[in-house]
This record gives sequence, C-alpha cells and structure tokens, in this order.
Amino acid sequence: MQTLTVDLGDRSYPIYIGSGLLKRTELFTPFIQGSSVITVSNETIAPLYLQPLKANLEGLKSSQVILPDGEKFKTLEVLNQIFTGMLESGCDRRTTLLALGGGVVGDMGGFAAASYQRGINFIQVPTTLLSMVDSSVGGKTGINHPLGKNMVGAFHQPQCVVIDTDTLSTLNDREFSAGMAEVIKYGLIRDTDFLTWLTDNMSLLMSRNPEALAYAIFRSCQHKAEVVADDEREQGQRALLNLGHTFGHAIETGMGYGNWLHGEAVSAGTVMAAELSQKMGWLEHSDVEEIKRILSLANLPIAPPSDLSATEYNQHMSRDKKVQDGVMNLVLLKKMGKAVLSNDYDPAALQAVLERK
Ligand code: NAD
Ligand code: GLY
Repeated sequence: MQTLTVDLGDRSYPIYIGSGLLKRTELFTPFIQGSSVITVSNETIAPLYLQPLKANLEGLKSSQVILPDGEKFKTLEVLNQIFTGMLESGCDRRTTLLALGGGVVGDMGGFAAASYQRGINFIQVPTTLLSMVDSSVGGKTGINHPLGKNMVGAFHQPQCVVIDTDTLSTLNDREFSAGMAEVIKYGLIRDTDFLTWLTDNMSLLMSRNPEALAYAIFRSCQHKAEVVADDEREQGQRALLNLGHTFGHAIETGMGYGNWLHGEAVSAGTVMAAELSQKMGWLEHSDVEEIKRILSLANLPIAPPSDLSATEYNQHMSRDKKVQDGVMNLVLLKKMGKAVLSNDYDPAALQAVLERK
C-alpha cells in the first residue's frame, strides 16, 4: 500500500492506494467518529462492492442509499433522495458518509455530506480510474444543473480516500479510457517526464498492468494533492487542473449529460485548448500532434462532436466557473508541461477553434 497526504493543516487527510484495501478495516475505523455510517453508492457498484465495504462496519449502525446510475442522475432531485435516505435512517451530525463509486457518486455523496445538517464527515471510496486519480481528492463536490455542469456544489474535504485498485477489474474499457484523460492531463499541465512515461507505457496501462497502473494512480494523486494543498479553493493554480474542461463541459452539457463521458469530453476539449494554444504561437504543430497521439493511444476522442455549433459552445462556455466579470478565462498551454490560466487569447482564434477552422 502507498500513502499520500493532502496537506491542509488540521484538515489534512490520507490517500491510501493499493490492492485489497476495501477489506482493510483499520483504514476506515479511525475516520468514523460516531456510531453510525451511511454508504452512498449506485445500482451498478453496490452489488459488486457494498458487502465487502460493509464488512468493515461491524458494531456500527449502518445504512445505505443506492442511487440510479449515470451522469444524468447527478441532479438536485437525486441529491434529495440521499437526504431522504439519511433522514429515514436517523443520520445525525456524527454520522459518517461513505461514498462508494465513481465521480458521480463521489460528487453527490460529498455534496450531501457538505450540506446535511450543515456538514458531516465523509470518506471517499473511488471505484473508477477517473475518480481515483481526480474527483475523490480535493473536496470539490456538487451536482449538475440542466443549464450547466457542476454548477451547484461546495468545497468539503473528505476524512480520507481509500483507493482499492482491485475494483478496476470490473470497470469497462470505455470508462477506463475516460479516466486516462485526467491522468494525461497532469503530464500536460505540469510534468513532462510523467507525460513521456505515460506515452512509453500506455500499452501496459491499457492492458491494466497492476504495477504500471499503481504508479500512474500514485503520481496523479501526488499531483492533485500538491495542487490542492497550495490552492484549496481555486484562487489560482488549481484552475490549471481544468485543462480542456471549459470546452469539455460545453460538450457534456450540449450533447446531453452522459452521452459523452466526462473524460471523453475532457480529451476532445484538451485538443481544442491545444489548438488554441498553437494559434497563439505557444505550442508547435508537432506538440498538438503529440497530444493527439497520446490521447489516441488511450482510445480517447481527439475531435469534438460535429453537431455542436460555435454558438452553442459560446453559450455553455460563457457560464463556466472561470468566467469573471464577463471575461472568460481559459486554461491553455504555454508549452508542453506548462499550463496557464489566460484571458489573453485572440477571440478570433478561439472562434476559429470552435468553428473547426
Ligand atoms: P461515473 O461515476 O459515472 O462512473 C462511470 C461508470 O462506471 C458508471 O456507470 C458507474 O456505475 C460505473 N462503475 C464505477 N465503478 C465501477 C467498477 N469498479 N466496476 C464497474 N463499473 C463501475 O463516472 P466517473 O468517470 O467516475 O466520474 C465522472 C464524474 O466525476 C463527472 O460528473 C465529473 O464532473 C466528476 N468529476 C469531479 C471532479 C471533482 O474534483 N470533484 C473531478 C473530475 C470529475
Ligand atoms: N478536477 C479539478 C479540481 O479538482 O480542481
């Protein structure tokens, strides 16, 4: 097992990464303060992993809320189902919530924990590659609104993150690839050595070689933990973790939640951000080709959907959380391994990217 720490003073917490961790009771119990727990999961993940997790909770009053599966259920209505389940189960302020699942369950369970009785403790137990390397760490929680992705939420840090890499064995290939988009992101924004390692080892990773995967997850979480420790509330460099996301969120919202997976939309959005960076003279053509190559090696899309117009992009992107006083800030690449948050781009160049020119 490997352990990392998200260093946030008295709110610091560990990330445990390894095989067989779901069964390691001692990783969970120190972070359960009261006598009751509630597990939030979904109808796909619960039959696979709820029982092993619950085996750790003997002696505690334990209940669960099982959500419908899918990004389209990351809504206020389904969030309310969690609150109903918590009230019916008699959860109080000392109840600990366990979020068992991918980023959708983690974001919703986390937001329920942030807001139930004004905030209770929670533990992230991520089961997708994407949630292991990104969404379970850092305390961003929330839900979608029909008009915009992740528009309602809260910062609320977990007590710990338990990443059992064995759970990846049941994840399908499309979802696995989607997670790889966020892994590649860390290389592109801040670590060219990691990017080279990913390119060299992508076929091992795609065949789910345990050692290669454990390293990719560890290194990704290390990056995420460092960035969050420096800028928990996204006043600065945390925004750089959103490379490709402004374009990607527009794709997810515009195409209907769940039709493009988050990681797929981020992948196509990353290529769009790279193309704009090239038009600004920051990246070479060969850099953009290299980005497309590594994303393709991970079986990810490198072109946006053809049926989303520039007008639709502009509409969705204008609601991005990085818009300030009406000015849209975008994460772009100054060079490989160096991302910047910038409003210093040529609007005509952006328009050309959106129009696929
Ligand atoms: P997801 O939660 O929808 O999970 C993908 C699919 O895999 C689902 O059908 C799920 O039921 C299934 N699944 C999960 N674990 C499985 C397993 N071990 N075996 C078999 N099936 C399994 O999607 P995701 O990619 O994990 O997360 C995407 C979400 O995360 C988006 O809503 C995105 O906005 C959010 N996100 C949040 C942050 C953050 O910082 N909070 C960061 C990145 C992404
Ligand atoms: N996934 C972006 C962030 O956590 O800030």
